[in-house]
Amino acid sequence: MEFSIKPLIPGRNASGCTVVGVYADKKLSEAGGALDRTAKGYLRRVLDRGDMTGRMGTTLLLHDVPGIASARVMLVGLGPQTEFGENQFRRIVTAAISALAKTGAGDAELHLAELTVGKRDVEWRVMQTACAARVAVYRFEQMKSKPAQDVPALRRVVLAIKAQGDAKRAARGLAQGLALAHGVSLARDLGNLPGNICTPSYLADQARKLAKHYRLKIQVLERADMAKLGMNTLLSVAQGSSQPPKLIVLEYRAGPKSQKPVVLVGKGVTFDTGGISIKPAPEMDEMKFDMSGAGSVLGTIKAIAEMKLPVNLVGIIPATENMPGGRATKPGDIITSMSGQTVEILNTDAEGRLILCDALTYAERYQPAVVIDIATLTGACVIALGHVVSGLFANNEALAHEVLAAGERSGDGAWHLPLHEEYQEQLHSNFADFANIGGRPAGAVTAACFLARFTKKYAWAHLDVAGTAWKSGKEKGSTGRPVPLLTQFLINRAGRR
Ligand code: BES
Ligand code: MN
Ligand code: ZN
Repeated sequence: MEFSIKPLIPGRNASGCTVVGVYADKKLSEAGGALDRTAKGYLRRVLDRGDMTGRMGTTLLLHDVPGIASARVMLVGLGPQTEFGENQFRRIVTAAISALAKTGAGDAELHLAELTVGKRDVEWRVMQTACAARVAVYRFEQMKSKPAQDVPALRRVVLAIKAQGDAKRAARGLAQGLALAHGVSLARDLGNLPGNICTPSYLADQARKLAKHYRLKIQVLERADMAKLGMNTLLSVAQGSSQPPKLIVLEYRAGPKSQKPVVLVGKGVTFDTGGISIKPAPEMDEMKFDMSGAGSVLGTIKAIAEMKLPVNLVGIIPATENMPGGRATKPGDIITSMSGQTVEILNTDAEGRLILCDALTYAERYQPAVVIDIATLTGACVIALGHVVSGLFANNEALAHEVLAAGERSGDGAWHLPLHEEYQEQLHSNFADFANIGGRPAGAVTAACFLARFTKKYAWAHLDVAGTAWKSGKEKGSTGRPVPLLTQFLINRAGRR
């Protein structure tokens, strides 16, 4: 799907479909009103007939509207005008594009980025429109033997803007929106790929591709390199698998030389069986998504590099499978982490923290401004927050607020959860410095507490995306979250917005 931006008077241009909004109580948007005047009140009569109320996310398709140059007109319900905010805006764009993709229209003219959305400027509105539109038509078909039969006809979308004066900012918004969508799509593709294809080596190959395309520095540490560095907790997770583990490091440096980098660390468990503490069979297939943190790091790097954002960014991905087997780590085993701290592994299914802790120690060498790790870390986080927001933990209040604000702005929200010292007691071990699990109460918190013991040397935030990185059930699939949050975080840091 291709996008362009033009100042357009609705109704004058021939296209497959012209899309305008209708607020609740059948109130036409500005572009809708203009279209209706050209159509001599036709839209008004349709609304009065009661076929479209303006309820948010509903659509009505009209053909051959008199006086209108395009073949179709689509009305999109915007909901109450007083409540029309950022999330509503993204939702109605998604609704419009999804409905458009079901029509035979090959091209369309969208009068949605023209709507007033609080104080958001045209750059933001175009960015969100382009990104939401791309995300709405995403499909994962790499693994199907035949191409899908119901390919949408929609090829070209013109985003209408009000004035030529908006064109420059709109163009920047379009570029950013597409870059973000490409990052989200990469994260979704990697998440959706099965464990037999998306292995640690596959992730390393994808990182190499990114590095080549965007001229990034890349390093892939092999098992022997990790052993030399003393990354024993990471290796203890990998030792049950015949797939070699990888520690992938990507560096994107477009910010001032003296500026310390933002370091993103993504959990890359390409399949989590639980190891010897094996998981029950139902839904175990979903543990192919356990590399979503890693996918979000690669997706964010792609988005940032495509935007040419002036920031310094390092991505670190510990990648491994978690498998049972003759060599696998056993409950009760005690391992010395790269930090020197010893860990009693009481449950081999709490593996994410074991690979992250060594990666977090490794992050020290980049003298980070801040470190954010992203991990599908705990089922407990899904119980606490469901699928709406990601769990956020931080050892630094200012950083926590920065992450929360980026989540709000991007519609990819997070919620701040506690990290009180008292929870640390739950990790007590009689035999090692501490254990890798803290019992049932506050499972997401004790997982974060474990990580906190490895992040004392820098400002750190942890995003538990176990509930947000993918959807289960009929719509099973990767969401690409939290690429929008992370990208917005970096856009804010770059001082562009
Ligand atoms: N990858 C899982 C977390 C997970 C579970 C994400 C379900 C999404 C849905 C993680 O490695 C894990 O198994 N965590 C355990 C920790 C427990 C053993 C302390 C969990 O949450 O059950
Ligand atoms: Mn696990
Ligand atoms: Zn896991």
